[in-house]
Amino acid sequence: MKKVFAAFLASALCLSAAVVPAMAEEISTVAPGKLTVATSPDFAPYEFYAIAEDGTPSLAGFDMALAQYIADYLKLELEVVTVDFDGVLSELQTGSVDLGIAGLSPDPAREGIMDFSDLYYIGGQSLVTTTEKADSITSFDDINSSDFTIGAQTGSIQLDLANQYTPDASIVSMPKVTDIVSELLADKEYAAFIETDVAKCYQKLHPELAIVLDVPYEQAGSAIGVNKGNEALLAAVNEAIAAAKEDGSMQQFVADANELATGEKYEGLLDAQEEVPAEEEAPAEEEAPAEEEAAAEEEAPAE
Ligand code: ARG
Repeated sequence: MKKVFAAFLASALCLSAAVVPAMAEEISTVAPGKLTVATSPDFAPYEFYAIAEDGTPSLAGFDMALAQYIADYLKLELEVVTVDFDGVLSELQTGSVDLGIAGLSPDPAREGIMDFSDLYYIGGQSLVTTTEKADSITSFDDINSSDFTIGAQTGSIQLDLANQYTPDASIVSMPKVTDIVSELLADKEYAAFIETDVAKCYQKLHPELAIVLDVPYEQAGSAIGVNKGNEALLAAVNEAIAAAKEDGSMQQFVADANELATGEKYEGLLDAQEEVPAEEEAPAEEEAPAEEEAAAEEEAPAE
């Protein structure tokens, strides 16, 4: 019995050796045996928390499925670090993680602090507002003045796009996309620059959001940020991405994430007990005191 098992094990090892990329043994990671990945889970369908029936949050989204696929491909244990988006950039900058998988755009300005994998997903950029303001925006010129407060996520290319297309507006950056959406819904921001698929996802939850303009951006698509200079890891990650595209996994991850994102979910960081912070559960617009809302209405221009 023992022998049979040993023989089975040997053949299994042989088999797996054949599918492991040749360079896998040479890959060094920040924690041996682990693939440490930073993400910012405020970004459905890329990354978010899916809430199980018993209320337990678990990381989900196609970025997370791809992270697991890559870890399996490299025979490493996946360890995910959750931070705000600008934290993903600094984790890569300090070399504290192997990968940043967070719907990252391969912005050339980031090349000093990370290497980029091949693209694994093609998305786009949008300008978002609320339905009652939608008709007032037909071009960036309509909101390019200090009368308009425009939101974008801290550290993101959306913030660069805001500065590029609406340089004269009053631009506010916030650490989480969730907060930007809350501000939009509470009429504290007139519009915001958000990744298109993410905007569509938030829109399902808040139908009063309106996507009004396509925002031209050269670096279309998402890449994985790789610990700078780790060439073996970069090559292996690219191999894993190619495999995930080729065997249909990537398509499935995207479909599953979009499906899961229509269910109970949370976007943001968990508290110290790994639970959804209590105050975040209430929709932001209900928190706004009535007087403030009335005041905002009075301030709105008559036309
Ligand atoms: N694609 C944009 C960028 O790279 C935004 C990514 C934000 N990701 C997130 N998980 N919040 O700057």
